[in-house]
Amino acid sequence: MNYRVPRTRKEIFETLLKGLQRLEYRGYDSAGVAIDGNDSNVKERCIQLVKKRGNVKALDEELYKQASVDLEVEFETHFGIAHTRWATHGAPSAINSHPQRSDKGNEFVVIHNGIITNYKDLRKFLESKGYEFESETDTETIAKLIKYVFDNREFEDITFSTLVERVVQQLEGAFALVFKSIHYPGEAVATRRGSPLLIGVRSKHKLSTEQVPVLYRPGSIENAKNICKARMQRLDSSTCLHAVGNKAVEFFFASDASAIIEHTNRVIFLEDDDIAAVADGKLSIHRVKRSASDDPSRAIQTLQMELQQIMKGNFSAFMQKEIFEQPESVFNTMRGRVNFETGTVLLGGLKAHLKEIRRCRRLIVIGCGTSYHAAVATRQVLEELTELPVMVELASDFLDRNTPVFRDDVCFFISQSGETADTLLALRYCKDRGALTVGVTNTVGSSISRETDCGVHINAGPEVGVASTKAYTSQFISLVMFGLMMSEDRISLQARRREIIHGLQSLPELIKEVLSLDQKIHDLALELYTQRSLLVMGRGYNYATCLEGALKIKEITYMHSEGILAGELKHGPLALIDRQMPVIMVIMKDPCFAKCQNALQQITARQGRPIILCSRDDTESAKLAYRTISLPRTVDCLQGILSVIPLQLLSFHLAVLRGYDVDFPRNLAKSVTVE
Ligand code: G6P
Repeated sequence: MNYRVPRTRKEIFETLLKGLQRLEYRGYDSAGVAIDGNDSNVKERCIQLVKKRGNVKALDEELYKQASVDLEVEFETHFGIAHTRWATHGAPSAINSHPQRSDKGNEFVVIHNGIITNYKDLRKFLESKGYEFESETDTETIAKLIKYVFDNREFEDITFSTLVERVVQQLEGAFALVFKSIHYPGEAVATRRGSPLLIGVRSKHKLSTEQVPVLYRPGSIENAKNICKARMQRLDSSTCLHAVGNKAVEFFFASDASAIIEHTNRVIFLEDDDIAAVADGKLSIHRVKRSASDDPSRAIQTLQMELQQIMKGNFSAFMQKEIFEQPESVFNTMRGRVNFETGTVLLGGLKAHLKEIRRCRRLIVIGCGTSYHAAVATRQVLEELTELPVMVELASDFLDRNTPVFRDDVCFFISQSGETADTLLALRYCKDRGALTVGVTNTVGSSISRETDCGVHINAGPEVGVASTKAYTSQFISLVMFGLMMSEDRISLQARRREIIHGLQSLPELIKEVLSLDQKIHDLALELYTQRSLLVMGRGYNYATCLEGALKIKEITYMHSEGILAGELKHGPLALIDRQMPVIMVIMKDPCFAKCQNALQQITARQGRPIILCSRDDTESAKLAYRTISLPRTVDCLQGILSVIPLQLLSFHLAVLRGYDVDFPRNLAKSVTVE
């Protein structure tokens, strides 16, 4: 938003859209903006909303199609908001995209990053008061709630920030919110809890302060009435940030510095429960509760980072960031789907087809690269829980073989991008033969998600690093959830289901424990990075871990690496073993444990020096190991989620030590859209 820096509407759009483009890596299934509709002379401006399914470019095109938008109108003061969405509640569509509005007159509009967990109760309450909802989002409840609070205010001159304060007191969950309203023209209010939010400040002139003091407004909704007027009066110059002499100043609210860094590197990071308001060119921050840090002011910081760096946070590569995001991404995959109390799983995108799937002759799970490995990793648990034959297929080979497919087959297409040509062609092949097709993708609106009959969105969040990491663990969990949903009525499987659901619940914490081994894995990489080859061996539930670990290593370190099925050791690979050849063995306390011990003996008998990934309580394997990496234990069929992470980390450290660009390995692309 800007103060007394005349800008045309076109420039305002461009600023907003540029910001959105910078955030597109976080999600891009739909986008929207809200700007002032009339010219700046009108006291109570109307708000114009433009929303569009698809990426930011689609929104950009849409804006220019809207005849009613006069692009040359100049504004002295303007506040616009924009949002790019990654669907969590409700399918990607213009109506579900943000800004969400209070009513057809757009009295209040809001953009939201996060999730409101009590939105159903709030929605029920607001519906009972006659509010009609138009979207399926949790965010719309916030827009309606602020109008409800406004319509039921006790006195006329309630401030915008007080309204927002009352609204957020009712919200549970995580959020960063920015509000705009026709009742407060030119004013902005933003707040956060759990989701990041910062304010960029740009002024050619001296600012009134470098530390914005926080105004404490203790109280609750009940006693808010008495202190409300006092609050207004206390917002004097000493509690605000503005440009000295009322010179031009611009404020930018964003969930990530990458959206605003080209305008300013001067930013204020808001803390949880801060409410920031801009009115008359002045920024004020207040809070009801004292902050945990108890800092009485928010400093304006100068960011020294490059844009790329900012997007990566504290990590040196996207791949590293994505590896460390896994406690959160696996949680997001399960969120709203697994009910840990009732022990039930509901995948909304498959519900309507469940009966048909239960009647099928077999499941065929198809993918390429890492996505194929997710199919291998879950094959056994799918066979167990669905009691159906399960084929796992590499898309290219499946097509090369002209594999017979029948009307009563159910075919799953696993793809992070949803655009991989081989997988897409296999999908069309199966569709032509009348099979039911199911997409498991990380990209809403992708070709695979559009062309399949039904599907699961893995909700891992955008993955930038070419070497897939968090998508793998989320694909893994999505397939396990499918198995659990299929077995809901099988009495004989109830104990097993409970065990798995319990295992799912503790995964995010256990992943954090595995990630804490990073330094140890770095030290191991120091020993290995000059090697030419690296073998990864295991069997059963962890065979896929070996394939995936070896793929990570070859993709980004350019070392030769092979994932070997330990059961095949004596049929060939044993010839490779000697003192020099580094071998990683994945040995977990599962039904294959004894057989893995045999393989271990065979390796050590040939002077091999195995590096063993094993359970913490496994003293037996540790005795024969050259090095061990001990992992926490979980249910056998989920152990692969924990055992793959050390190999993701190892490949990352090896690539860095060998001096390669981790995110953009030579010869490879994130999404291969040619056959
Ligand atoms: C490419 C990437 C791999 C990825 C594979 C499948 O080869 O380099 O990392 O696993 O495609 O991609 P998808 O988007 O279909 O999961």
